[in-house]
Amino acid sequence: MTGSPPLPDLLSEPLGEFAPDGVPPRAAEPSRPPEPVIPLGQAEIAASLKRMGVIGSHEQPHCRPLDGGVSSEIWLIELPGRRLCLKRALPQLKLAQIWEAPVIRNHHEFAWFRVAGRICPEAVPRLVGQDSAHGLFVMEYLDPGMYPLWKNQLRDGHADPAIAASVGARLAQIHGATAGDSEIARMFATNDSFYALRLEPYLIAPTRLHPDLAGPLGRLAHATARTHLTLVHGDVSPKNILVGRRGPVFLDAECAWYGDPAFDLAFCLNHLLLKCLWNTRAVSRYLACFDRLAETYLGQVEWEPRDDIEKRASHLLPGLLLARIDGKSPVECVTSEMDKGRVRRVARALLLNPVDRLYAVREAWAAARAGV
Ligand SMILES: Nc1ncnc2c1ncn2[C@@H]1O[C@H](COP(=O)(O)OP(=O)(O)O)[C@@H](O)[C@H]1O
Ligand SMILES: [Mg+2]
Repeated sequence: MTGSPPLPDLLSEPLGEFAPDGVPPRAAEPSRPPEPVIPLGQAEIAASLKRMGVIGSHEQPHCRPLDGGVSSEIWLIELPGRRLCLKRALPQLKLAQIWEAPVIRNHHEFAWFRVAGRICPEAVPRLVGQDSAHGLFVMEYLDPGMYPLWKNQLRDGHADPAIAASVGARLAQIHGATAGDSEIARMFATNDSFYALRLEPYLIAPTRLHPDLAGPLGRLAHATARTHLTLVHGDVSPKNILVGRRGPVFLDAECAWYGDPAFDLAFCLNHLLLKCLWNTRAVSRYLACFDRLAETYLGQVEWEPRDDIEKRASHLLPGLLLARIDGKSPVECVTSEMDKGRVRRVARALLLNPVDRLYAVREAWAAARAGV
């Protein structure tokens, strides 16, 4: 990443309000450039936990790697009476079209959790500690039995509009509380990495297959890059949302950026549209989730005129639809050529003739899906 400002010292403030069971999370080191990546194992994790002051010198954690991440190592750490989760960013994403991503994103992810946790503590895992010199942090482990992945629920046709509404509400709450905050803007001035991780792979990469869309997609990417209104999560996908008894919990904030909140809104709504191709029996429920998320979110927008953000999200949505077919991170739930063709057709039509309302995107999508 070039041109990034120096890292803010996130650790100069107390972290106490994020602590599990009243134990303040600790930091092993103040922020400085991460050291070369060494493979993690039980001994390295134990040493890191000791440096962070999470365990005493004689405690031995039991650690095992978890599946599921595409860009990071995730470990479950078992200690007497508590379970923790360690996340370390990998220098390359485990995707077919490998892209490199600076591991400093782990620092921004930790910072997003800290900020969002202050605004809505139930919307994030509690933080335990950060070992920034080793590019990792530790949070509470949220048991999948109690915190199922929203993506798995949606896949199984369990698409509850109340959960979608709550995702919209929490997202708008985090966006609203960070709107116009120059300190947060400074902490998350991650313009270069947001371009590299989001705008280029999603909005620019598809122009290789669709050169005639270079104009609309390029304008979309540039308009998004120029908008700096709130803290953005950057990966609000059902695969990064756990559904707890006290509402949705956001994970995976590696793409955090101070930018355009319409990106988060459109990114999540895009997944709800694409799910319609995954489980065709649940189409009306997915679309009800789309409507509830959009309505709830827009109902809480106070930092700018609602029509403005709705318009930007409506313009982004067809770009993101196309991205998940012909961008660098194709979605797993669309496999047949017929479905890919449908997505391309509706996305192209809306990119060439944009609509300004989310219901109009949803209507165009529903018609294209039904082959109308
Ligand atoms: N705090 C946590 N508690 C329990 N499971 C977690 C936690 N954080 C991540 N996971 C699991 O690991 C998976 C990948 O985590 P994520 O942060 O999304 O990594 P990646 O950036 O690699 O996608 C999640 O889908 C979830 O199953
Ligand atoms: Mg993830």
